[in-house]
Amino acid sequence: MSKLMQKVSRLKRHKATAIAPANIAFIKYWGRVNEELRLPANSSISMNLSEAYSETTVEFNKKFKKDVVMFKGKRMLFSEANRVIKHLDRIRALAGLNLKAKVETRNSFPKGTGIASSASGFAALTLAASKAAGLTLNKKDLSILARLGSGSACRSIPDGIVEWKKGKTSKKSYAVSLFPASYWDLRDIIVVVGARSKKVGSTEGHAVAESSPFYKERIRGMEKKIKSIKKAIKNKNFKRFGEILEAEAINMHMVMMTSEPPLFYWLPKTLKVMQFVIKQREKGVKSYFTIDAGPNVHIICQAKNAQKIVRELKRMEGIKNILVCKPSNGAFFT
Ligand code: DP6
Repeated sequence: MSKLMQKVSRLKRHKATAIAPANIAFIKYWGRVNEELRLPANSSISMNLSEAYSETTVEFNKKFKKDVVMFKGKRMLFSEANRVIKHLDRIRALAGLNLKAKVETRNSFPKGTGIASSASGFAALTLAASKAAGLTLNKKDLSILARLGSGSACRSIPDGIVEWKKGKTSKKSYAVSLFPASYWDLRDIIVVVGARSKKVGSTEGHAVAESSPFYKERIRGMEKKIKSIKKAIKNKNFKRFGEILEAEAINMHMVMMTSEPPLFYWLPKTLKVMQFVIKQREKGVKSYFTIDAGPNVHIICQAKNAQKIVRELKRMEGIKNILVCKPSNGAFFT
């Protein structure tokens, strides 16, 4: 190979790295109107998390005979890698690229904390793979593409506090930043009470949501709820904000528990932490809880109260890990 050719092929190395945060939803995405396109039944609101992120490197190379997906230095099983490879296929099709890839991902959060996040993973994968494939996409298109991998991943693209507008079509269903990360000094104290991977993941969960007798009612109240929480965030009305997000989490879990088959994600310790939060409020320390499709509790509070809450939590038995997160920006290239 001539020197010039070598230089060109080096420049054409199809490799890129990106970092994307996980996010916690204050108004949840639970249930879809289109499975394949991951179009949600309702809009949702979330905050990106500073201490919980994924870093992903993607390389396309003609030397590779097949796609290889590595997670924390270990090769992923085909059953798990399959969803990643499907996402690579979407990106290859967009870029008109016909090369196999190597994907390497690591998470910031310690192993076995149960904070496994498809949101940070698919957002980082979307950025890294699209850049490595030679595509230049804007935030809106990145959010749409990330959504096809995992719904909540579309919310990890824009900065700070984010709204995923449900949209009627794929082109209209993406997330935008409502407020920058610096807007409100909130904290999400993630209390890890169980680290085992869940039996029924969110993908299957969304599919059965509609079978709950409370689902329709939940969706009916959504527009109003979103309007109210946006107003509370805008006015930094913490009490109103907290009351809405806590009631919303309970509402989603009631739908989960009453669907067919019923999905019950709480452990006894989950309930203990919920009661702890209620007690803290009675003592005047304002904080509210929210819970995703797992047993861990996210305690949402203002920065000024975070340390006090963590100190009290550390006195409780059976807590596996505590991770304090600030609001953060969305996904970026390294
Ligand atoms: C309970 O985004 O994980 O965390 O689109 O199937 O990947 P898929 O689902 P996912 O669902 C998240 C569910 C939730 C609520 C939320 O984050 O809004």
